[in-house]
Amino acid sequence: MAEFALPKNSQIQKGRHFDSPGAKQPRTFRVYRWNPDDGLNPRVDTYEVDMASCGPMVLDALIKIKNEIDPTLTFRRSCREGICGSCAMNIDGTNTLACTKAIEDCSSGDVPIYPLPAMEVVKDLVPDLTHFYAQYASIKPWIRTASPAPSDRERLQSPEDRKKLDGLYECILCGCCTAGCPSHWWNGDRYLGPAVLLQAYRWIVDSRDEDTGARLDDLEDPFKLYRCHTILNCTRTCPKGLNPARAIAEIKKLMVARRT
Ligand code: SF4
Ligand code: SF4
Ligand code: FES
Repeated sequence: MAEFALPKNSQIQKGRHFDSPGAKQPRTFRVYRWNPDDGLNPRVDTYEVDMASCGPMVLDALIKIKNEIDPTLTFRRSCREGICGSCAMNIDGTNTLACTKAIEDCSSGDVPIYPLPAMEVVKDLVPDLTHFYAQYASIKPWIRTASPAPSDRERLQSPEDRKKLDGLYECILCGCCTAGCPSHWWNGDRYLGPAVLLQAYRWIVDSRDEDTGARLDDLEDPFKLYRCHTILNCTRTCPKGLNPARAIAEIKKLMVARRT
């Protein structure tokens, strides 16, 4: 896939180069650097890492760089297992998770690593997710009920109804899809984007939720939902193999069905 747009503050300068003398299997990583506190323009630093003493994933290389070469490099990570979503970044031209992206699956040559595109940058590889989370909160992502809860058990769901959540509940809110969506780049202030719309659909189809009408009313808006033009970058880039574009199409079908 072609490289996505660069981060918003993208007057990128050539940066520092860190050699790895005596490396048995050197591999070079080109990493975006920007520190709001030093007053300098963004730059790209180049790090040689010895693959003979490095784990297989891009996150392993970043951790090795931070621990052994340049402690100032800043990135987010937590689980190292593709579950928390915090290590989302643009690697080798694709939005993905650093902890599940194998170095050997990157194109030959230097491996470019940038923050998620089209988001403000907090520092280095850390994107500002404030707006992303605010959009998520706007869909009220929890079960909304009107009927009283059963006194002796939880609200039950048939296996068939539970199955409708497959392909939705696995979303880890990493933001790779939304940061890769051209419609969100252009109208991100009002278009909710693929991650939040997939989550909206997850609650719309949950058989235990009793507020479907209001959820659809909230999305009946020229920008929130209908700015999806089925470009499919979202589905192509999702590191969990999910299909946000399909979830969006299902919401649109429900909108049509309730009008007829
Ligand atoms: S749909 Fe995929 S890419 Fe988008 S936020 Fe969820 S896990 Fe990440
Ligand atoms: S299919 Fe819709 S949500 Fe996905 S990238 Fe395209 S415009 Fe964005
Ligand atoms: S560190 Fe949690 S998803 Fe990568």
